[in-house]
Amino acid sequence: MSQATVVLDPAFTVGPVRRRTFGSFVEHLGRCVYGGIHDPEHPSADADGFRGDVLALVRELGVSTVRYPGGNFVSGYRWEDGIGPVDQRPRRLDLAWHTTEPNTVGVDEFVRWCTKAGVEPMMAVNLGTRGVQEALDLLEYCNVPGGTHWSDLRRAHGSEQPHGIRLWCLGNEMDGPWQVGHKTAAEYGRLAAETARAMRMVDRDVELVACGSSGRAMPTFGAWERTVLGETYDLVDMVSAHAYYWEQDGDLASFLGSALDMDRFIDDVVHTADSVRAERGVDKRIAISFDEWNVWYMNSGPSAPPREDWPVAPALLEDRYNVADAVVVGNLLISLLRHTDRVHAASLAQLVNVIAPIVTEPDGRVWRQTTFHPFALTSRHAAGQVLRPEVRTPTTQTAKFGETPLLDAVATHDDESGAITVFAVNRSVDGPLTLDVDLRAFGRVEVVEAVTLANPDVHARSSADDEDSLVPRPNATAAAEDGRVRVELPAVSWSMLRLRTA
Ligand code: AHR
Repeated sequence: MSQATVVLDPAFTVGPVRRRTFGSFVEHLGRCVYGGIHDPEHPSADADGFRGDVLALVRELGVSTVRYPGGNFVSGYRWEDGIGPVDQRPRRLDLAWHTTEPNTVGVDEFVRWCTKAGVEPMMAVNLGTRGVQEALDLLEYCNVPGGTHWSDLRRAHGSEQPHGIRLWCLGNEMDGPWQVGHKTAAEYGRLAAETARAMRMVDRDVELVACGSSGRAMPTFGAWERTVLGETYDLVDMVSAHAYYWEQDGDLASFLGSALDMDRFIDDVVHTADSVRAERGVDKRIAISFDEWNVWYMNSGPSAPPREDWPVAPALLEDRYNVADAVVVGNLLISLLRHTDRVHAASLAQLVNVIAPIVTEPDGRVWRQTTFHPFALTSRHAAGQVLRPEVRTPTTQTAKFGETPLLDAVATHDDESGAITVFAVNRSVDGPLTLDVDLRAFGRVEVVEAVTLANPDVHARSSADDEDSLVPRPNATAAAEDGRVRVELPAVSWSMLRLRTA
């Protein structure tokens, strides 16, 4: 059997585990909002129309921040449409997804939902069809306590206390020609800088994210970041990155290596941002907000309604995930954690129904996709410091990435509780891997729990009728001896080892 080794030492750390790594995303898209988080007709709906069963799963998922209201949607959105008496709100065409937006849910409802879900809102402003003034108005509405037009309107609408939103995205994917109000890097960089400068005049505590490239394969990737950060460097805290992975051509081995692409994406953005830093001769470092990431089978379902139709909340982008997808999602979280020094926020896109870990059925049920599990367990058990592991692993050749390590792993260490958690993926498509974790630097260790998500049919999916078969199961092979832990990792698997110093 192939063998891989991971050496861990509490002295070698990357940085703290950041709760914001476990963010997600709710866009006015398909059935994410309407029929997803919000459905007044549902038996579990509360007085605000929010589904209680969905809220329970959002809490179980361990989501920390939720980005809102888009996505492509935000680039044509008038936030004022979504405030005040619901029966007086306008219905609008949403050009991004070719639907009708009823505006039943807006910023006040979303913030109320965040409180119930126990998550931090991350708000995006429209820099596609709108600009500085509308962003300022929204910020005033949300964060100014009272005594001004917009803040008093918020109070009149029932939110006496300010929403106090700290995290703000300056537009969405403005490099993409599909974006309403798409801009060149120079146009966007200037607008983002002016918006950021003005927003800080209203609230100096906001944390601002400038749009980076909407993908590493964009023809403008790199040049876009350089230009945008050239304009905004002193004014923003983070630059965004977006990436979606899919097994487009049935090449499972390459698909399993998707985290290599995320690693390279992050490294490239870090180097580009640091080159702007060098030119400016400043100490400040720009962090990354990886605020859209997931597996997405772009050709698997409708991404827009037929052209003659403008429906409300049609089923769009409702991907069904299999075991291999869950392994990749777990691996992408490993990548985000190992970059915790520079990735300060991230959002799994999206949360409910739309390329999501949580699915609601028209008949009223809600269920967890395979991808739910690695996210929930990583969010729950990653704690303390991210350790810098020394990994020795066999490799395989993949069409997309060339020499690809079979093992990928990261570990966290919570000094206070003594908990050490290892997250590991075996990318081999045809054989198990023995993992030997060398923890002698910690003294004696014992295994608290070892679980593995794998299945002989890696294309098997969960469903509303069976969401319990494809879940992480105890891995009985895990054993500790003399400061080492050995465990067998089946082919195409994601595992979590919870250890503690004895
Ligand atoms: O998450 C789905 C879409 O993907 C978002 O609206 C957009 O930002 C990205 O292209």
